[in-house]
Amino acid sequence: MLKEIHEQPQAIKNTVLPRTKNFLPDFSRDNIPDSLFSDCKQIIFVACGTAMHAGMIGKYVIESVARVPVQVEVASEFRYKNPIVGKDDLVVIISQSGETADTLAALRLAKEKGAKTLAIVNVVGSSIAREADYVLYTWAGPEIAVASTKAYSVQMSVIYLIALKTAMIRGLLSEEETKTYHKELLSIPEKIEKVLKNEEIITTVAKNISSSSSIFYLGRGLDYASAMEGSLKLKEISYIHSESYASGELKHGTIALISEGTPVIALATQNDLLEKTISNIKEVKCRGAMVTCIARSAMPYESGLYDNMITLPEISDLLAPMLSIIPLQLIAYYTATYKGCDVDKPRNLAKSETVE
Ligand code: G6P
Repeated sequence: MLKEIHEQPQAIKNTVLPRTKNFLPDFSRDNIPDSLFSDCKQIIFVACGTAMHAGMIGKYVIESVARVPVQVEVASEFRYKNPIVGKDDLVVIISQSGETADTLAALRLAKEKGAKTLAIVNVVGSSIAREADYVLYTWAGPEIAVASTKAYSVQMSVIYLIALKTAMIRGLLSEEETKTYHKELLSIPEKIEKVLKNEEIITTVAKNISSSSSIFYLGRGLDYASAMEGSLKLKEISYIHSESYASGELKHGTIALISEGTPVIALATQNDLLEKTISNIKEVKCRGAMVTCIARSAMPYESGLYDNMITLPEISDLLAPMLSIIPLQLIAYYTATYKGCDVDKPRNLAKSETVE
């Protein structure tokens, strides 16, 4: 897992560079026409586990820049609920393996109902890749560890390309604005290398967490989607009970669970939402939580708001999830290692769930 975490900069380069032309997203090598993104009335992401969390990022990003309605569906729910989906919809199936039984069944159902289908898949020639109308391969290389890391980063990368392409062809981003975001995407590998060097503070946080029985991940907007994936990583490999919450939802119940020493990982990368996020952090801090903040370096913080701070290189709100996921993966990895867990082969989990 640690090796795969460190392979992320290269995996992102391998995925984004072949789809870059004149600093703009380009899917001509994938034989995907622009009309796939300009003509749909809505986009529905369908996936399981980590891939579903990439879809959550997609919802926030595409709705924000391209103003197309996006739904995210868990494949095992989608396939049994007689979904409202038809010929005007683009169903985007996300899967590392391309073989997850529920996701494959969801793809078949979407096709049956007349939707156009696009697969974001890592394994070349897999069932989902073969059956979808169009495929965008992620080039992460083989992912062996059960807990998905580099596959998630490349899934997000492809989704950013789709969002930028869709926004540009629909006239919501100018060519120049699209280029600015695309260049930022190209700068991500280098920035991830910097985050990977932050291990000292990350191992300190992991050591503190490793003796806890329960932990909470908080965030708003895109940070909420990242919190969901961070929480999943931790529970998968360290067996610590963990939950992710949209920060504003805390007061509706979860805050009752915060007491002296409860670890909270608070994501605060979204400038637009910073004030609200800070007030949520104060709410847990004054109830005794042990708070680790993940934020962008340029952000101002009052002292006493947190116990540990992990800073990220400067980045836009939109692309922040590409960086904030790195400390979350490393926190999960080191926490599980401190607990003596078999990180690469966690109990009860399979790399690919090919039967229902
Ligand atoms: C399993 C794995 C997860 C993965 C999920 C979806 O549960 O343990 O790490 O996210 O399946 O797999 P897929 O191959 O479809 O992305």
